[in-house]
Amino acid sequence: MPTSSPKVTVHPDHEALSQAAAQRLMADVSDVLEDQDECALALAGGGTPRPLYTLLADADVPWNRMRLFWGDERMVPHDHPKSNVRMARETLLSNTAVPADHVHPMPVEDAPEQAANRYERRLRRYFDDYPPSFDLVLLGLGADGHTASLFPEDPPSLDDSAWVRAVTAPDRHDIRQRLTCTLSVLNDARRAYFLVSGERKRDAVRKVLVARDEALPATHVSPREQLVWFLDRDAADGL
Ligand code: 6PG
Repeated sequence: MPTSSPKVTVHPDHEALSQAAAQRLMADVSDVLEDQDECALALAGGGTPRPLYTLLADADVPWNRMRLFWGDERMVPHDHPKSNVRMARETLLSNTAVPADHVHPMPVEDAPEQAANRYERRLRRYFDDYPPSFDLVLLGLGADGHTASLFPEDPPSLDDSAWVRAVTAPDRHDIRQRLTCTLSVLNDARRAYFLVSGERKRDAVRKVLVARDEALPATHVSPREQLVWFLDRDAADGL
């Protein structure tokens, strides 16, 4: 369990929560790099992180000491409009000097299981076969309580020996074939941020933070040091 309970911050709107997350991320990165050469950051997908990534592109981040990974990906080409890598390229990567060999997209060319195994091997190489301990994981929250590509329909496994899994999202999601880091990996991270905006997330936020609904994967996210929620007022109204 983390050394402290989740920190929940509420901001006037999506832009404000993104600015607060950017400031906190800069401080956390600086803190990490005081004690180690590199900072391993796992990026979230979807649309909520866009303003944050845009802010980070203009921020004074030591990109040459950052290692970028993804918490999940849709199994579509990286130039597909729904690709998480494409979103990060558009908002962040194309505007920063992060070395290309420091960016580790999830592979989408292979069959799903092979792609999951390949990314797990990539993580094992970087983390020397220890459980991957990302310094920071960015996460979104679906209206159904999913996070990364861990869905309520798949009972969360807190001791999953796999680091990366190929999953099929429920049919309410348009892109169904996905790769995701497992809950074990998310919880081996030092810190995690949830970025949640909008009224349609209100119910899921309340179920996770108030009801602690264990059927929702987001409820089980518990990084080793600190979990911070960045909400806007619309998403936090149910609290
Ligand atoms: C994905 C994301 C997913 C996302 C939530 C919220 O690949 O879809 O990783 O977990 O964070 O679905 O998505 P929005 O930010 O678009 O609402």
